[in-house]
Amino acid sequence: MTTPIVDMRNIKKHFGHVIALNGVSFDVRAGECHCLLGDNGAGKSTFIKTMSGVFRPSEGEMRVEGKPVIFESPRDAMTAGIATVYQDLAMIPLMSVSRNFWMGREPEKGIWPLRTLDLAKADAITMTEMRKMGINLRGPDQAVGTLSGGERQTVAIARAVYFGAKVLILDEPTSALGVRQTANVLGTIDRVRKQGIGVVFITHNVRHAMAVGDRFTVLNRGQTLGTALRGEVDAPGLQDMMAGGQELADLEGSLGGTI
Ligand SMILES: Nc1ncnc2c1ncn2[C@@H]1O[C@H](COP(=O)(O)OP(=O)(O)O)[C@@H](O)[C@H]1O
Ligand SMILES: [Mg+2]
Repeated sequence: MTTPIVDMRNIKKHFGHVIALNGVSFDVRAGECHCLLGDNGAGKSTFIKTMSGVFRPSEGEMRVEGKPVIFESPRDAMTAGIATVYQDLAMIPLMSVSRNFWMGREPEKGIWPLRTLDLAKADAITMTEMRKMGINLRGPDQAVGTLSGGERQTVAIARAVYFGAKVLILDEPTSALGVRQTANVLGTIDRVRKQGIGVVFITHNVRHAMAVGDRFTVLNRGQTLGTALRGEVDAPGLQDMMAGGQELADLEGSLGGTI
């Protein structure tokens, strides 16, 4: 097997007395979609914030392409090629798609869209990158607020890919979307994976995970309940793990009946 792009080993994270992560190991390889599943409060967001440099782990080790790293900030993670698309997306609805696409990233490609000369170039790149993701904008000036939720996710994903993400972390990208928009986002994940990017797809929806996942890891109360490859596990099996199936079975046993 190839070296994972990101390899997190035995990660622990405490907030005072709260143990949010208690020894989580998780890795992602180029070209795969590794789903991180878990119920509310399982530790999913804490884990990906650790992976993306927002939190320092209390214990554990992180490697990027085999080399140990310590991220002091989200900027360090981005420089290492780890891009995160959060639920709130950090976009400005009244601003154009193109301005949102380039926001904060201007110098990286030697383009300064605030200069008239480069504005056209920046707009053209935005249009092209969005088209690659299956979205035909009316024009680069179209406001982000006029896009659907799924399309907005796709702008954020296209931006991360264009600026060189090797790993793309998506925190519950489908949880607030309807069926069609969800299908669009899942299609985008598939496209990105086929470009050789490693995708970490956080969800509590087993069906969404099963639709695109190559591997599945279930978190429960800050601990991994295991990792399974596609084909090794089915939707009811994942659902059961997520709900703490064993705990329920034990409780059922001790109550001597069916819950
Ligand atoms: N900044 C924080 N301070 C204290 N406790 C936190 C903080 N962030 C998360 N937690 C706790 O860590 C646990 C995991 O939370 P979280 O990672 O948000 O779970 P999930 O994303 O799976 O719903 C929860 O018990 C939550 O209350
Ligand atoms: Mg969360």
